[in-house]
Amino acid sequence: MCGIFGCTGRDDLGEVLVEGLTTLEYRGYDSAGLAVVGGSRAAPELRLVKRAGKLSALRSAVDGQDLSGTAGLGHTRWATHGPPTDRNAHPHVGGDGRLAIVHNGILENHEALRAELAGGVELASDTDSELLAHLVAVERDALAREAADVAAGAAQSATVGASVLGEATRRALGRCEGQFALAVIDARDPATIVAARRGAPLILGHGDTASWLASDVAGLIRHTRDVEALMDDQLAILTPESVSVCDLGGNPTRGHRYTVDWDVEAAEKQGYPHFMLKEINEQPGAVRETLLDRFDEHGRLRLDEEWVGDGELRRIDKVYVVACGTSYHAGMVGRYAIEHWARLGVDVEIASEFRYRDPILNPHTLVVAISQSGETTDTVAAAAHARDQRAPVLAVTNVVGSTLARAADGVLYTRAGPEIGVAATKTFLTQVVAVDLLALYLAQERRTLLAEELGDAFVRLEGLPELLDRVLATGDQIAELAAGLAHRDYFMFIARHAGLPIALEGALKLKEISYTHAEGFPAGEMKHGPIALIDDGGPVIALATRSHVRAKLLSSIAEVRARGAVVVAVATEGDTEIRAHADHVVYVPDVHELLAPVLSVVPTQLFAYHVATQLGRDVDQPRNLAKTVTVE
Ligand code: G6P
Repeated sequence: MCGIFGCTGRDDLGEVLVEGLTTLEYRGYDSAGLAVVGGSRAAPELRLVKRAGKLSALRSAVDGQDLSGTAGLGHTRWATHGPPTDRNAHPHVGGDGRLAIVHNGILENHEALRAELAGGVELASDTDSELLAHLVAVERDALAREAADVAAGAAQSATVGASVLGEATRRALGRCEGQFALAVIDARDPATIVAARRGAPLILGHGDTASWLASDVAGLIRHTRDVEALMDDQLAILTPESVSVCDLGGNPTRGHRYTVDWDVEAAEKQGYPHFMLKEINEQPGAVRETLLDRFDEHGRLRLDEEWVGDGELRRIDKVYVVACGTSYHAGMVGRYAIEHWARLGVDVEIASEFRYRDPILNPHTLVVAISQSGETTDTVAAAAHARDQRAPVLAVTNVVGSTLARAADGVLYTRAGPEIGVAATKTFLTQVVAVDLLALYLAQERRTLLAEELGDAFVRLEGLPELLDRVLATGDQIAELAAGLAHRDYFMFIARHAGLPIALEGALKLKEISYTHAEGFPAGEMKHGPIALIDDGGPVIALATRSHVRAKLLSSIAEVRARGAVVVAVATEGDTEIRAHADHVVYVPDVHELLAPVLSVVPTQLFAYHVATQLGRDVDQPRNLAKTVTVE
C-alpha cells in the first residue's frame, strides 16, 4: 500500500530512486514520483517529477533529466484520497516549494487540518498527504522565527537531533491523527532526510557512505543488508554518514536493527515471464524451507521463538485465527488440522471484522494472526486487540521484524522468501504448512496425539515438496484447459470439507488477476441458491480429491452437470471413476485428506495464471490491488 524509497549520499539519485521504486511497485501502481535536492551547492533546489500510471510512465519522464543531487525520495501510490492523477501523485511540496514529502497511510483528521490550512496555503492536490507537507513547512517557518528570537536573546528552542527539519516534522506529526510512514526532504538542509512512522512500515538502511529508507527490505538489499525497522511513533534523521532515531517526544531511541539474509536473485524473475509463475514454481522449495529444523535436541517440535510456557498452552481452550485475503483462506485450511489433531475449537475470522464484534477473549484464548507481510493493518490491529484482552497472540508471517512479528507473543515464520507477485501463492502454501505445524505443536503440548502419530504426520508433511513437483508437471494440461475456457464470464469453484478453502482461494485468485467473476461455494450449499447461476456450459471447478465426503461432492457435481455445467475436477491420482463425472480431470498425488489442500490449490493457481495471461492481463500487478494493505 504505497511504496516509499529514499536515499542520501548517492549522487545518481534519478536512477537510484527509480530502481528502488521498481522493487516496491507491487505495493501500489496508480502513480509514481520522485523529488531530489539538486542544483548547485550554493543554491540547492528541489526537482520534482511525477506521473499518473505505472512506474514505466515515470521512467520515461525522468529519461534525460538531470536528477543528480544530495538527497531524494520516491513513491509509488495506491490511491486513497483523490484519483490517480499527476497532481495527486507524490511527492507533495509544501511551503515555498523547497520541501517535499512522501507518505503512506491515511490522515484521519484531514478535514480539520484542511480547514486550518485553508486561509494560508493553496492546495495543489486532493490528497491528505499534501497537508502534511504544508504542516511541516508551517512548523519549519515557526522554528525559523524562534531561531530569530534566540538570536535576539530569547531562550534556545529545542530541536531533535539538532535538525530543524526533524523538529518541524516532529511538531507537525503531533497534530496528525491516523497512520503514516513518511519521509521529508528540504533544499535548505540538502543532505538530510527525515522519516517517521505510525502504523505503516518503514525500514532504514545503514550504508558506509549513504543512508537509505524503504517500505520494505526488498527495496534495500541491493544496497545494504544492515537494516533497522523503525517502530511506531519513532522518527529518524538520515544523513550520508549517520542514521539517528528518536521517539515522537524527541527522546533518543533505536529501531529494531538486524541483518537481512535474502539475496537479490531471489527477488528477480530468473527467466520466468512473470513473478507469479516463478513463485508458483518455487513452492516445493518454500515448503521444504518452512519445515526445516523444526525439532529440538529432545525430538520435540518447536516454533521459531520461545513464547508462552507449556503449562499455559495446556490451558488454552479456544483458538481464533485472524487474517485477511489469501491468508484468511490459509487459516481456514488450518482449522481442520488444529481441530482434528489438537482437539481445540477454532474460529477463523476476517481480521477487519474481528475486533469490532467484541469477541470473547481471555488468557485461555489463543489468537493466531496470519499475514505474509506482517503489515496488514487490519490483522495487526486484531492482534493488538487480542493482546489488550490478555489473549496470547501467535503471528504466522513471512517477514522477519515485521510489525506483526514484533507485536505478537510468539512467531512462526513461513520461509517462502520474497514474494513479488501481488497475488499470493507460495506464501499461501507455506502458511498452510506452518499452521499444520502449529496444529501438531499444539497436539504435542496438549498430548492429544501420541509421539508416534505426531512423527507420522510430520513425515507426511515432509513428503509434500516432492509431491508438489508432480503437481507442477500438470502445468501444460492446465494451460490448455485455460485456453479453452478463458473467455467465459463466470466460474464457480465447489468443494467440501478441507477442500472448501481452496474453492474460495481458487475463485479469489482467478478474479484478482483475470478480472473474471468467480465464486467459491461449499458444494452442499449449491442447491440452496447458487445453482440458479448455472447455465449451459458454465464452467464449474470441483476440488474432488480423496476425502470422507467425496461421495457427497459427486452428488453436487451430478446436479450441476445435469443443468449443463462443464466440470473440471481436481482429483486424486488413481481415481478413474471421476472421469465419468467430469469433463476434464487434473490429477494430484494421493495424500492424507487434511494435507490435500496443499496439492489441490496448485492447479487453481496455475489455472488463474493461464486464464489471466490468455486475457492479456497484468498478472503481477493486477488493477486496483496492492500487495500490502496498510490502511484500514
Ligand atoms: C492484500 C493482498 C492479498 C493478501 C492480503 C493479506 O489484499 O493483495 O494478496 O492476501 O492483502 O495480506 P497479508 O500480508 O496480511 O497476508
